Amino acid sequence: MSVQPLAPAPALTLVHEQPQHSAAIEALLDHAFGPGRFVKSSERVREISEFAPELSFCAFEDGDLLGVVRQWRVRVGDKPMVFLGPLAVEKDQRSAGLGALLVERAWAAAKAAGEAGVLLVGDVAYFQRFGFEAAPAKGAVMPGPVDQSRVMALMFDGTDALSGPVRGR
Ligand SMILES: CC(C)(COP(=O)(O)OP(=O)(O)OC[C@H]1O[C@@H](n2cnc3c(N)ncnc32)[C@H](O)[C@@H]1OP(=O)(O)O)[C@@H](O)C(=O)NCCC(=O)NCCS
Repeated sequence: MSVQPLAPAPALTLVHEQPQHSAAIEALLDHAFGPGRFVKSSERVREISEFAPELSFCAFEDGDLLGVVRQWRVRVGDKPMVFLGPLAVEKDQRSAGLGALLVERAWAAAKAAGEAGVLLVGDVAYFQRFGFEAAPAKGAVMPGPVDQSRVMALMFDGTDALSGPVRGR
């Protein structure tokens, strides 16, 4: 009886977002958020800020996009910060740590780039495990209606209270 060699496990690759990834990203975001994704309060921030592809990541396996995290350069009061989102992982790939990998890469890239911190709107129950807190973000004024309890920040510079409007740079 011959023994078949095992197929190598497909490798997960994280790359910075490139323009050629946009069709796959749009499809993933449509699956993850549905048609309401453009009315989210985060979308108002993205409309006024500069996209930072060098701080944004795509996770591929065998050419398939499994997850994405995007980041945007903003200012909160006088603080240069990054706004994180959207974050999404394909349904059949969830609960395996890919969301965590993307969030951790994203905030580490923002920190290495010298940003003061990362701001986002999301579920506290998910993001608090990475050190995001609602408390410092209480004084951050979003450009549009938002559930303030979902606005969270992870500060690298020791700031304990943000204040002022969230604006583009
Ligand atoms: C949120 C999301 C990116 C997490 O991706 P993931 O790869 O499953 O993340 P992880 O593997 O790191 O963590 C999974 C754990 O987080 C938990 N979790 C996922 N979403 C959660 C949420 N909204 N609130 C609380 N916990 C959550 C899961 O229950 C899971 O726990 P389990 O392993 O005990 O079941 C993914 O569920 C997703 O794409 N959701 C739809 C889009 C979305 O809501 N994005 C976030 C807002 S920007």
